[in-house]
Amino acid sequence: MALAEGRLVKVSEALRMGDGERVVVRGWVYRFRDLGEKVFLVLRDSTGIIQVVVGGESAERARAADVEASVVVEGVVRSDPRAPGGKEISATSVTVVGPSKGFPIARDLSREFLLDVRHLWVRSRRMQAVLKIRHTVFGALHEYFRGRGYYEVQAPMFITAAVEGGATLFPTRYVDGSTVYLTQSSQFYLEALIFSLEKVYTVAPSFRAEKSRTRRHLTEFWHCEAEEAWATLDDIMRVEEELVWHVIDRVLESNQEELKLLGRDPRPLEACKPPFYRLTYDEALELLERKGFKVHWGDDLGADEERALVEEFDKPVFVHRYPVKAKAFYHKSDPKRPEVTLSADLLAPEGYGEIIGGGERIDSLDELLQKLRDFGLQPKDYEWYIDLRRYGSVPHSGFGLGIDRLVMWIAGLDHIVDAVAFPRTLRRVYP
Ligand code: 4AD
Ligand code: MG
Repeated sequence: MALAEGRLVKVSEALRMGDGERVVVRGWVYRFRDLGEKVFLVLRDSTGIIQVVVGGESAERARAADVEASVVVEGVVRSDPRAPGGKEISATSVTVVGPSKGFPIARDLSREFLLDVRHLWVRSRRMQAVLKIRHTVFGALHEYFRGRGYYEVQAPMFITAAVEGGATLFPTRYVDGSTVYLTQSSQFYLEALIFSLEKVYTVAPSFRAEKSRTRRHLTEFWHCEAEEAWATLDDIMRVEEELVWHVIDRVLESNQEELKLLGRDPRPLEACKPPFYRLTYDEALELLERKGFKVHWGDDLGADEERALVEEFDKPVFVHRYPVKAKAFYHKSDPKRPEVTLSADLLAPEGYGEIIGGGERIDSLDELLQKLRDFGLQPKDYEWYIDLRRYGSVPHSGFGLGIDRLVMWIAGLDHIVDAVAFPRTLRRVYP
């Protein structure tokens, strides 16, 4: 279509322009008000919203533009203190590119309905803000690792044995008729790769057949995992806190507008400078006991316990040295106290709880074989993983960060499904 006279600009640019400038903007109708002589459109693009006033002959055409119709508007920028952003466009022409008869998102704004129409709800200003924050988070994760000598690697999604326990494995029928699983974590492959590259990381989906409905579990989530040769538990906790702060810092730098739109107070995030708090599992249990929780020594902490625990802290807290039976088999025992592991979970404040799990891995062949037996696992299912302890084994540590949970916390959301464009949960694989 002919783009006469005016300069083609994004909404955010138009909002910064001086009065009298001729512009062309393209976007979608966010709001619509027909005042008879004049039609008021609020136009939305990926950068913001701007009011468009349409009078005269063009008003008729603007009237045909329903909510979420795509339009091209030509007009003149004018200051108007009543308009959102203080500017509006006085339109000289409006062209509807794609009509939008009966856009379904109108009155019913229930969570379930908005999930049913997620392919359309991603256009909402809230989702747009979350997706922009998510973009910053992913970029910052890569930036952190790449800036510190970690190699980015890729692990397979089809695997043959559990990393994190059989209960949440996703079986699928492979091409040859055998049963394989969708990966729960790339950890074991990252462990293999440290013998080549020493410091590695990956950003990839992980899959868990989570059977319970919670606010923080997806069946498909984005996992940022790192593994490092020669690193101890202390070393890896320092990497984790630096990484989390780096991501938060980038969001604070790039997404103030989005945080504001979401009603997210940035101050609790600003407080999250390292070092984070460190608490042993035993200390955590004592604290919980004082708060009226009875946790049996040896059990993992649940969401309720984590929430109660983080109430006591104004930034993230590491809980380290979980009992052997509370964690997966690959965790190394503390040589000073074999009934606990050199593991740590990082719990986010403000009620969010676990966002990272990690620690030091078993590096001795004998300890690994014994541990597999203790956990009732078959060494034959883990042959290649065991091999890593046969050929040049080294002490090493690593961790996995749930990116959707990190976004959920940073954006201040109350449900993990709102941190993802197209969430997969127990009950939902559509759209
Ligand atoms: O604590 P997890 O199960 O640890 C592992 O998978 C290790 N193998 C990671 C490693 O050391 N390389 O999972 C790590 C993180 C959790 O802390 C949580 O943030 C996230 O992954 N996570 C989930 N996020 C969304 N939905 C789920 N169902 C999740 N399960 C784990
Ligand atoms: Mg965990």
